[in-house]
Amino acid sequence: MLLKVENLKVEFYTYRGVVHALNGVNFHLDKGEILGLAGETGSGKSVTSLAIQKLLPPNAKIISGKILFDGIDLVELNEDEMRKIRGKRIATIFQDPHTYLNPVFRIEKQFIDVLLAHDPDIKKVELKKEREKLARAKAIEMLKMVSMPAPERILKMFPHELSGGMKQRVLLALAFSLNPDLIIADEATTALDVTIQSQILDIMEKLRRGKNVSILFITHDLGLIAENCQRIAIMYGGRVVEFGDVKKVLTNPLHPYTQGLINALLRIDKDIKPVSIPGTVPDLVNLPLGCPFYSRCAYALDECNKSFPEPVIVDGVRVNCHLFARK
Ligand SMILES: Nc1ncnc2c1ncn2[C@@H]1O[C@H](COP(=O)(O)OP(=O)(O)OP(=O)(O)O)[C@@H](O)[C@H]1O
Ligand SMILES: [Mg+2]
Repeated sequence: MLLKVENLKVEFYTYRGVVHALNGVNFHLDKGEILGLAGETGSGKSVTSLAIQKLLPPNAKIISGKILFDGIDLVELNEDEMRKIRGKRIATIFQDPHTYLNPVFRIEKQFIDVLLAHDPDIKKVELKKEREKLARAKAIEMLKMVSMPAPERILKMFPHELSGGMKQRVLLALAFSLNPDLIIADEATTALDVTIQSQILDIMEKLRRGKNVSILFITHDLGLIAENCQRIAIMYGGRVVEFGDVKKVLTNPLHPYTQGLINALLRIDKDIKPVSIPGTVPDLVNLPLGCPFYSRCAYALDECNKSFPEPVIVDGVRVNCHLFARK
């Protein structure tokens, strides 16, 4: 197991009061596995990814829980220790690549800076010129790996000269160049057209198989998860409410919320009209005592309004729902 998030709780302190963004998140990720993290907007996907990297904004705090990465609890690490892990062992690719490439430097410099600072093989070479030569060669190799056409030419360009898909590939190549164990992709392919999107996903799959990289793949798109992930975690109200094998969860969803998400999809193949989930996501300032899905759930029982259900395992899938706790 590479990553195990245990009972993670995060709060934000705002003018509206305390936002209970994560309320006990539990999931794990094996080596060489792609885990899909899905859930409506505001369910806590990005906060989970930021917490893992310890990049939460200053008004947020990890209240309790563990983030075990290769056996080390990241919650306990200070900023200096985290800096050794971030980028090198845990790399991130975001939805908006423009923000993460420096507009005033050529792509080449952005690679060289990263590799000279972090690549152990390049760092130990004595002459600066030699180090830069090695870094340039590695950058070309990485750009080729992400199927970038004419990598030598790309290195001489500025970010604004590249298309969105090309920028995303540059970020992927930068992320991969330090051989990370874990890649967190938060809506990383959402802004791309479908052809580029599938190319990027192919590259991720290649890395997973070739280098045993683990990927936390955050998306709204259950179809993408079905095609690319081994396991899925469904988030709601700052908790993972269903977690298990992707085929099992998507073909036989247990949690009424997961069922709702699937029913909201357009199914051209089956001539089924999508049905949206009634109501809205819970207010995380006034978090209900019971299941946060209670007010929207067609199957709600009295106890659902009173306590949050303990996890139950059904055919290898973990679910937090009183309907199953009863059986
Ligand atoms: N900087 C912030 N200040 C206050 N609250 C925040 C902040 N960032 C996130 N939150 C709260 O944390 C909750 C979870 O947000 P998060 O960004 O993780 O959602 P998400 O699942 O990534 O949604 P999306 O699908 O829209 O990206 C939200 O209810 C949001 O209000
Ligand atoms: Mg998000």
